[in-house]
Amino acid sequence: MRHRSSVIALVSVLGTVAVMRSVACAPARSGRAAAAEAVYVAPGEWDKYYGFLSGGQSGSVFVVGIPSGRLIREIPVFEPRAAYGYAVHENDARRQELKATGGTWGDTHHPAPSEKDGVYDGRYLWINDLANARLGRIRLDVFETDRILKIPNLQGAHGIAVVSPDTKYIVVNGEFEQPTDGMATNPAPYTSVVAFVDPEAMEVRFQVRVNGNIDIADSSKDGRYAFSTVYNLEQGKDMESMMVLDRDAVAAIDIPLAEKAVAEGKGHVRNGVPILEPDEVPGLLTLVPVPKNPHGINATPDGRYVVASGKLSPTVSIIDAKTLKILAEPEVGLGPLHTTFDDRGNAYTSLFIDSQVVKWNIEKALAGAPDYIVDRVDVHYNIGHLQAVGGETMRPAGDYLLALNKLSKDQYLPVGPDMPESQELIDISGEKMKVIASFPTPPEPHDAVFIAADVLSPKVKQVFDLGKDAVASGQEGIVRTGPRSVTVNMTMIRSAYKPETIEVREGDRITFRMTNVETIRDMTHGFALPDHDLNVALPPGYTKTIEVGAGKPGVYWFYCTNFCSALHLEMRGRLVVQPRDSKVEVADWKSASNVSGAVAGVPSTGAQP
Ligand code: CUA
Ligand code: CA
Repeated sequence: MRHRSSVIALVSVLGTVAVMRSVACAPARSGRAAAAEAVYVAPGEWDKYYGFLSGGQSGSVFVVGIPSGRLIREIPVFEPRAAYGYAVHENDARRQELKATGGTWGDTHHPAPSEKDGVYDGRYLWINDLANARLGRIRLDVFETDRILKIPNLQGAHGIAVVSPDTKYIVVNGEFEQPTDGMATNPAPYTSVVAFVDPEAMEVRFQVRVNGNIDIADSSKDGRYAFSTVYNLEQGKDMESMMVLDRDAVAAIDIPLAEKAVAEGKGHVRNGVPILEPDEVPGLLTLVPVPKNPHGINATPDGRYVVASGKLSPTVSIIDAKTLKILAEPEVGLGPLHTTFDDRGNAYTSLFIDSQVVKWNIEKALAGAPDYIVDRVDVHYNIGHLQAVGGETMRPAGDYLLALNKLSKDQYLPVGPDMPESQELIDISGEKMKVIASFPTPPEPHDAVFIAADVLSPKVKQVFDLGKDAVASGQEGIVRTGPRSVTVNMTMIRSAYKPETIEVREGDRITFRMTNVETIRDMTHGFALPDHDLNVALPPGYTKTIEVGAGKPGVYWFYCTNFCSALHLEMRGRLVVQPRDSKVEVADWKSASNVSGAVAGVPSTGAQP
């Protein structure tokens, strides 16, 4: 029967469709399982890499395990952070330093680890503050900011780079041009400078004048040149006038020549820093013309080339890192921003407009081979930076690449009109790239670098070294140092403050010198003093000295904010502020084990108990 046979035919077609569906799903599932396995780090196991993501307008650095994407730490740099007791109180020395150098917020873009022999040595990580022309330095043995440098004569500290191979300088580019003498009334054209910062002293050694909005930075692997992209060769002051020329430039500064000129006194000192004028030092500055409003600049791991990404041109420019000649300008796609590298001669360029990462072969592109594009992969969405593990060093790993996307749109549970930022991890170990995971972060990572756990974790300290200002156990005390000033030398150890009771008078200034005398890792104690805007977190071995006004008469319980033991809730004490005219005696106090000795380092003017 025809009717029957057509039913059979329909059933068999549906069956085929069902089979096809299950066939189509099977590899997809195993692909998901393989991807999940590739980024799975079991409880108790460690990630292979530390990922350092700039926090952007969070003013910090996010530390993320790679490949898991787990957030391990945030390192506050330019912004106070109560979680780590960082720069919280008005009188905190770091907060005052931040205020004195530009403000209590920052815009961090480019993390740059210290290098030895062209690879990361795990000592320091530098990070820029674009907004306030600052450079922060993080000690990687304690994951804490240790220096903040305000860079004079420069606005918009954007691209930074460590000068390879041994971190001779940190290069900081001034993106925002300003009147040459800093005076808004001056009719002179706006110009800018590249600053060369001594990495140990954290001082600006010299600056080189470069006109045209100095953007992203890198150095040649031999330390000869500092490279920067320059996108406003027009020296325009509005957007339209910055996009007139077909070509802007890569600026190459000859570092040994600059050093020689500075030594010969050719710098014009302004705000304590010698500024070199390229007109006066022949050969100091080479402008390599590249199209058009270029952005990223990245030296290849072998040191032979430097790649400028075209941004408004769909090309990258491959420049010989020694002769500074352009060798090729292959097309890669729309909106090329940054380029990174694997260990097999391939480059990976982020394409902002195409929302893609494009993989291309360097030698094939140089040879003009038609098949220089190896692969493309979609990312979500509108990628800015990208970074492969070790891509900025002389030994890239060729395993993972992180895409730092500007928009996440539909990628995560919606959280209101503003969505989290989106990072995607890409497996680059094979011929084809595979997006294997994504993870969100607070706003807004710009760039990332990765340091192998093998390199860094052995260098990380278990406890802070006791500083010269540390209070030792047995040296605790409360000392009246003047008619209106009291010093409290305090220790904390599970789970008590010593002293536990602090009596002062209204109008007193109290200097808390506090040491966490714990000797094992992770035993952090907090010291939160309500109604005094004071919240300090002290990791083991840490000392903090801070001066606080006594405030209104009353009893204030200070308490530990970091869970530390079964007696954590009991870890508290009282600040008793007597009224100014109180007849209650407010006596000095000393630790019982030190009744006869003076309190170290603190002038004692009060009566000894
Ligand atoms: Cu100390 Cu909780
Ligand atoms: Ca331009």
